[in-house]
Amino acid sequence: MKSTISRTRSPGWINYSKDHDFVLVYRKPKFEFHGTDKNRNDYSNADNDERGDWTDDPLQQPKTFKQRGNAVYFIHDPETDIYYPPNPNRVWSVGQRGDKGLSERPWEDLADDKLLVFKKKGQFVRYDTKAELLAAIDDKTAHKFARADLPNLDDWVGKKIGLGSVRIKKFLKDRTDNPNPLSSLLDGITTDESISIEVGKTTEGTREIRAIFSESAFDYPKPVSLIRELVRQSTSPNDLVLDFFAGSATTAQAVMELNSEDGGDRRFIMVSSSEATDDDPDKNICRDVTAERVRRLNASDDKKYADLAAGFVRSSSTLPLNTHGPDNGFIDSIR
Ligand SMILES: C[S@@+](CC[C@H](N)C(=O)[O-])C[C@H]1O[C@@H](n2cnc3c(N)ncnc32)[C@H](O)[C@@H]1O
Repeated sequence: MKSTISRTRSPGWINYSKDHDFVLVYRKPKFEFHGTDKNRNDYSNADNDERGDWTDDPLQQPKTFKQRGNAVYFIHDPETDIYYPPNPNRVWSVGQRGDKGLSERPWEDLADDKLLVFKKKGQFVRYDTKAELLAAIDDKTAHKFARADLPNLDDWVGKKIGLGSVRIKKFLKDRTDNPNPLSSLLDGITTDESISIEVGKTTEGTREIRAIFSESAFDYPKPVSLIRELVRQSTSPNDLVLDFFAGSATTAQAVMELNSEDGGDRRFIMVSSSEATDDDPDKNICRDVTAERVRRLNASDDKKYADLAAGFVRSSSTLPLNTHGPDNGFIDSIR
């Protein structure tokens, strides 16, 4: 069991709120929240690489050319015939073919596998003579990585020298790190260690009920965002969601919103009591609020709510579950 906290409205007491809702979470042994993939948004596939979405990482190490004298070589883009020099203060982190004692693949292998990303593709500068290059270095108009004390200055002459950096592709499918766990505090604040889902307050739940019923048909309904984000974190698109204390059917709306958002096919069962009492024997929350909310959302044209795919039935609570059938207590259906 675990509890998560979400903030509710402030009581205005010395500007300090200790007014929180607690969500108690019980789980079966294998259950896990989904969490969130770290920086998944950084991945895309602009070049339709068949290996899938990728991002690019630097191909540099924090060593100068003086510390790594053999790492001043150019990386060549065969497509454009442009040569890319290393940053003299952060030389290439990969070796080249022929280097002794290579522990990783040389850049030529990475280029063959189309793993190199050439930034500012096609942009270059050319120095036809060494004198021209030295003059440019002297008047500070040269390529930003050109320096008079580089040991390979002759190699700079007569080539197209790339203006951008070279980076290496990293594919989403190769990621092995774990997702960010869900924070126990539901306030929308994300840290390096965990993500927090942003959920509304009870006042939001009351507004949502008013929007559907034009009145406060139910006291203290949960905000849809709270249930929706918990369902998002805990279900797969074909799961069945059971709310045995459905009340105003916030859970039903949450599932309909989520299905609409991600095209999922989650189903739900909402169970609730009538709340009838001796003083109010005709009260029937289940019929008038739980079922009615689902009916109204399903009839809505708002694309925010997925249509119910398999119909809707409302059953008398006193019947055993195996008495399905038109004569055995189904009160009505939506279609
Ligand atoms: C706290 S409310 C649920 C609120 C709901 N999450 C919402 O946002 O509207 C609990 C509901 O469970 C119903 N309930 C209580 N005892 C029940 C029972 N034995 N079987 C089914 N429902 C019951 C109550 O009538 C009440 O509507």
